[in-house]
Formats: sequence, C-alpha cells, structure tokens
Amino acid sequence: MAKKVLKWLGISIGSFVLLLLVAYAFIYFKTESRINKRYTVAVQKIAVTQDSAALVQGAHLVQIKGCRDCHGADLGGKVFLDDPQLGRIVAANLTQGKGGIMREYTKADLTRALKHGVRKDGKSALLMPSYEYNSLTVEDLGALMSYIKSLRPIDRELPKHEIKPLLRVLTAFDKFPLLPAEKIDHRKQSLQTVNSEISANYGQYIAVGCVGCHRENYKGGEPLVPGSPVVPNITKTGNIGKWTEAEFINTLRTGKTPEGKQMDPRNMPWTMTKEFSDTEIKSVYLFLKNLPAEG
Ligand code: HEC
Ligand code: HEC
Repeated sequence: MAKKVLKWLGISIGSFVLLLLVAYAFIYFKTESRINKRYTVAVQKIAVTQDSAALVQGAHLVQIKGCRDCHGADLGGKVFLDDPQLGRIVAANLTQGKGGIMREYTKADLTRALKHGVRKDGKSALLMPSYEYNSLTVEDLGALMSYIKSLRPIDRELPKHEIKPLLRVLTAFDKFPLLPAEKIDHRKQSLQTVNSEISANYGQYIAVGCVGCHRENYKGGEPLVPGSPVVPNITKTGNIGKWTEAEFINTLRTGKTPEGKQMDPRNMPWTMTKEFSDTEIKSVYLFLKNLPAEG
C-alpha cells in the first residue's frame, strides 16, 4: 500500500516537474524571439547644434530624466542591474571613449535609440526607458543629442547583458519593462516645441517620466520588482490630494512626504525630481491635481 502511494507521489512530482520544464521552455523561446525581433523605423530628422542654450538644456534634461541613475555619473556606462535571479543589464557608455557607442553612432542612430528604444542592430534596447523620451520635442531631443556629443570621452568597456530565468518569466508576463521598443508607437512624429510656461499642459509633458512607475493613469499599483514598495497613487485621490503646492515641491526635492515617510531614491527617484525647475515642478503639480478622479 505504502509502496503504491509512494509510486503515485513519484509520478505526480515527476509530471509536475516536467510541466514546469515545458512551461519554462515555452517562456524561453517566446521571450527569446521578442528579444531578437528587429525593428525598422523611419527616423525623424533632428537638428543637432552646438549652441550654448542647447547644451545647457541638454544637461538639464540629463538631470531631470535620470540618465545618470543608469548610465553612471560620467555617462560612461555601468552595470545597472546585477542580480543572481534576474541577471545582468548593462547601460551603455554614451561617450566617444573606448567602449562608447558614440564612436560609431550617427545622429539617426542616436535618435533611434532615444526616441524609439531601438539599437543600431535593430533590436530593442533592453530596459532603456525610451517610451518616456518618445514624446520629447524636436528641440529637446536635439538638445539631448548635442549634450551627448559634447561629452568628455570615457574609456570603459562593459560586460554583456545576461538574462536569467526570473527576468524571462517577468518579461513573459509583462511585469518588467525589458523591451521598450514594444511599447512605442514608432510612427508618432515629434512636435517641434512645447510652451514652457507654468501650465497643466507643460506638466503633462514633464510627467511622462512618472508613467513607467506610477502607471499610465498615475494611480500607481503593484511593486515594480519583487521586494520593492507598492507604487502610490499620485492623483488627487491619493495623498497628493491633501498636499499644498509647497508640500509637493518639498517632497519631490527631499524625498520626505508630509506624512513623514523618507523615500529611498532607489525606489522613488527624487534625486532626479529635485533637479526640476520651479516652473517644471509647479506644472507637474497642476497637471496631477487636475487629473480626473476616475479612469
Ligand atoms: C532605467 C535605466 C536607464 C535610464 C534612466 C536611461 N537609460 Fe539609456 N540605456 C539603459 C540601458 C540598460 C541601455 C542598454 C540597452 C541595450 O544594450 O540593449 C541603454 C542604452 C542607451 C543608449 C544606446 C542604445 C543602443 O543603441 O545601444 C543611449 C543612446 C541611451 N541609453 C541614452 C540615454 C539617455 C540620454 C538617457 C536619459 C535621457 C537614458 N539613456 C536613460 C538604461 C537607461
Ligand atoms: C522608478 C520609478 C518611479 C518613478 C520614475 C517615479 N516614481 Fe514616484 N514613487 C515611486 C515609488 C516606488 C514610490 C513609493 C516609495 C516608498 O514607498 O518609499 C513613489 C512615491 C512618490 C510620491 C509619494 C506619494 C505618497 O503618497 O507618499 C510622490 C509624490 C511621487 N512618487 C511623485 C512622482 C512624480 C511626480 C514622478 C515623475 C516626475 C515620479 N514620482 C516618478 C516610484 C517612481
């Protein structure tokens, strides 16, 4: 009798393991084909000047878009994620030094990477949040590119990406933004410019950078990666509804909320939002406060 039970138990466990293997094989091939998909995009022409106003604006954009959080303080690239379960994701060296992409990237290649999240080889850039830069104006894209071209060369050769099983599983269930090119409307034309006076409209332009974490409707949701905090609702139905403009500004500049929570910049990137100008931060506040309660 006991023998029979054991035999059945053995068969059940065996079939379960087999099922898991089959499921993982499916996930592996599915994610592999998404990772290797090649995109052909018609790249819009962006003027790149070396005038000082463009360089100043480019430097500011690098601050408020958090490029350094991933590409390193000198933008010479770094290993951005290194985790035994997830794997290794490396943010490119953006300079003309050894190992830098600007040794061979043309203006069109750079536009394709920034705006479309597509690398020179036609595949999706991994984890590079281009869906947040896709709506930048021609002026701002030009300013960013001018600034990148002016960077001091940094010699830094970086290791390759390595995608481990957990990252594949999260990608398969769309729980991890590994493949930005999938999320972008590649036909969208960039506007030339945006009115940069304090307004909800300008706030929306800036707040595109919050969507990747706080979601399309700014109402937050599940943690971004296992173990990180729940992403809060930042519309008026969340805490922000109770905050004054001054409290909002203070939160985005110090990472400390009026409720007394000190946020870790690795979760909520306030080291990036603290660089927002007064006009930018007030516009974001106006925009968030004026979002409809439902939806
Ligand atoms: C969340 C992290 C993150 C942020 C923020 C980020 N990047 Fe990236 N970026 C990456 C990673 C990772 C890659 C490498 C993609 C690859 O090799 O597939 C990359 C690649 C690139 C590339 C080259 C893509 C290619 O063709 O190989 C450029 C150019 C670039 N980033 C510019 C920027 C600029 C400019 C900013 C700020 C406006 C920025 N990135 C912000 C993570 C980030
Ligand atoms: C990389 C992901 C990420 C991005 C980008 C991001 N946030 Fe957050 N934000 C979070 C997380 C996670 C928390 C919760 C942190 C905690 O609980 O410690 C948070 C918390 C906040 C809070 C505190 C809310 C509360 O109720 O306590 C505010 C306000 C906020 N974010 C505003 C913004 C704005 C505005 C932007 C865009 C300009 C933005 N965030 C971009 C991840 C992000």
